[in-house]
Amino acid sequence: MIIKTYNTAQETAQAVAREIFVAGTAQGALHIAISGGSTPRMLFEMMSQEPLRGQICWEHIHLYWVDERCVAPDDPQSNYHMTYEALLRYGLIPEAQIYRIRGEADPEAEAVRYTELVRSLLPSREGLPVFDVVLLGIGDDGHTSSIFPHQMSLLETSTPYAVAVSPTGQPRVCMTGGTILNARRIALHAVGAGKREVLSSIAHLSEGSEQYPTTYIARHAPEAELFTDQAL
Ligand code: 6PG
Repeated sequence: MIIKTYNTAQETAQAVAREIFVAGTAQGALHIAISGGSTPRMLFEMMSQEPLRGQICWEHIHLYWVDERCVAPDDPQSNYHMTYEALLRYGLIPEAQIYRIRGEADPEAEAVRYTELVRSLLPSREGLPVFDVVLLGIGDDGHTSSIFPHQMSLLETSTPYAVAVSPTGQPRVCMTGGTILNARRIALHAVGAGKREVLSSIAHLSEGSEQYPTTYIARHAPEAELFTDQAL
């Protein structure tokens, strides 16, 4: 894993914005899958304001989600809702290029629908869709996407999207390990002292780190980039 360390959470978000969104949209279409949570909220809010707002070629963005909680799109827990409040409400990305996971739908049916949608829009390699970028968060339990330690099998599930269940029992639709690893570029964005220990364990593939789903990604994708404010 390539570790990119910055002084603050703000500087980390700025680096993700510049390297992934500014540079990534300068040459043409960017098919990117984003995660939810509090870390990308800061990123999206920063991108929605100058100077970054004027530096991103918004019309080149095709926006997908890595995962979504199975709740209504206006539910405060929804990853779409967070993204809408932080960024989408400014109307910068063409509506037709925003591919929401329908949290309000039946989870199994939505995992199938979204898998078919992604397959129809993206190139394929070894039977799996190829995103330009998959932007992942990391939980303090080492989960990524909505692949939690109690559901490691989702790392090797063959379908690009599947139904996961969070530790609190909340169903989610999430991208599985094979499709994450199939992306042209994998970026992980995680900040905060509370994550330093888990991030260090994953980044250095320490003994015991195999319990974390993110370690699987780190092991199989040495070129994956971790953007963080923590010295690991
Ligand atoms: C979700 C996210 C999840 C997130 C991590 C980190 O739906 O919860 O996609 O995978 O990336 O939980 O969340 P924070 O950024 O809030 O720490």
